[in-house]
Amino acid sequence: MNPNELNETLLRRREAVRQGGGAQAIERQHTKGKLTARERIDRLLDAGSFQEVDPYVTHRHTAFGLDEKRVPGDSVVVGFGRVDGRKVAVASQDFTVIGGSFSEAQAQKVCKVLDLAVGAGVPFVALNDSVGARIQEGVWSLAGYSELFWRNTQASGVIPQISVMLGPCAGGSVYSPGLTDFIIMTEALSHMFITGPEVIKTVTGEEVDFETLGGAHTHAAISGVAHFVAADETDALATTRKLLGYLPSNNVDPAPRVTPTDDPNRADPALDALVPPDGSLPYNIRDAIDRIFDLGSFFEVHAGFAPNAVVGFTRLHGEVVGVVANQPAHVAGVLDIDASDKIARFVRFCDAFSISLVTFIDCPGFMPGTVQEHGGIIRHGAKIVYAYSEATVPKLAVVTRKAYGGAYIVMSSKYIRTDLVYAWPTAEIAVMGAEGAVNILYRKQLEREADPEAVRTQFIAEFKEQFGSPYAAAASGHVDDVILPSETRARLIAALDFLRDKQAAPLPKKHGCMPL
Ligand code: HXC
Repeated sequence: MNPNELNETLLRRREAVRQGGGAQAIERQHTKGKLTARERIDRLLDAGSFQEVDPYVTHRHTAFGLDEKRVPGDSVVVGFGRVDGRKVAVASQDFTVIGGSFSEAQAQKVCKVLDLAVGAGVPFVALNDSVGARIQEGVWSLAGYSELFWRNTQASGVIPQISVMLGPCAGGSVYSPGLTDFIIMTEALSHMFITGPEVIKTVTGEEVDFETLGGAHTHAAISGVAHFVAADETDALATTRKLLGYLPSNNVDPAPRVTPTDDPNRADPALDALVPPDGSLPYNIRDAIDRIFDLGSFFEVHAGFAPNAVVGFTRLHGEVVGVVANQPAHVAGVLDIDASDKIARFVRFCDAFSISLVTFIDCPGFMPGTVQEHGGIIRHGAKIVYAYSEATVPKLAVVTRKAYGGAYIVMSSKYIRTDLVYAWPTAEIAVMGAEGAVNILYRKQLEREADPEAVRTQFIAEFKEQFGSPYAAAASGHVDDVILPSETRARLIAALDFLRDKQAAPLPKKHGCMPL
């Protein structure tokens, strides 16, 4: 063959690769309202930046009709490209090829591109749409999953890993995402489950539909498996691009800085009236976050899960920071099992990728009751202390109102090595609220009093005088300063600038034994 013919053969082969499972299967994919693997990559990456790897790899199995189902590329498209000019590696499962089933060949391709991503220090994005392990390949498929899970684990804390769920992700196809840092699901079309409805019915007799079992809202609000819910695939890919904009490429590079456009000394007077003096009244901590950090920069993570806590990325004078806050607008911002998991996980991600942390505290403590105790609130709550104690990034905290008992300690107190703790004038730092404290301390005395209510009121007033303001804590250095709420932005910017080159030397060890 002459060179022209060779080149034409290549172009024909390339076109065949682009057809995936064929025109009919692509049509079926579109009819379901889903994009193809390649269309998704095109929407994720900057135009024209995709560089494919391994387009000609095929599976090597013949049993159970696999011989007739061999197509170049098999059931995944992998490669690398750019998002907003920054490098990223991508694997996009192709449902048109045997349901995107996870084959030995798919494993080989995904593992190769993940290895490349780790080596190059760039984030890895998996676009998932798969029926799970390819049944016909038996142990070869399972071995492939093992290889991928091992790599996800090795890459954890080295490069950010994001999973976008765009179809029925069953069995093994949920555990690689489960090992990654962020999971984005779409409404209606994406599902995640270990065992499907038919297996559940056979084993337990329970009848459950896909949506209840593992739809986006189930995982965003109940299980906490999903971090973001997108309206559709285009929105999910836009969310991925937005998320990448807050993340460093790896654990050595800094998170991307933007040129600040918001005045670092902007003092929002509304903050000074945000916290109601009556401790039983709620307010929305997001109002504080929105007003303190660079305007419009807050990107909430895990918004639907454990709404009594708020976590997310934001920018402070152009720098990415991680924000953690109790949410007084939801069950008074109490800490429970789910909030503990949500906070601890986010803190560890930020620490792994050198993103400074700012924590806002208004919390009456841990949620009481048998549901929480039996569910292991001790074990889960311990994760927050562990995560903050272990984190060596610059850590700032602002006590906005209640910092009672365990909440003061675990939510980034000075003694788990928060660098600077500020208190607003509304802060109350105590072992517990005044009413509860008086009932415990003076129960016997109150029983003896002729007018117990008058005495109780007196004791409560005394307790509030001592602990109902931040000055007792400030007088002993337990908080570093009392600041006006409207000063918070300027003070945090100055503190983070001061701490920019913070050095910390943890004790040498293989790894700690985090309570899990
Ligand atoms: C190979 C499979 C397959 C599988 C489906 N297909 N599941 N091929 N291995 N596991 C094929 C179908 O025959 C079909 O091929 C194509 O993929 C698309 O599947 P459909 O059923 O037509 O798609 P849909 O109607 O959208 O239903 C999707 C589904 C369903 C709900 C996910 O396919 C399903 O329940 N599949 C089984 C899921 C599962 O149990 N997977 C294994 C989990 S065990 P044609 O040729 O007709 O297009 C596992 C072990 C690892 O993953 C665990 C590690 C922890």
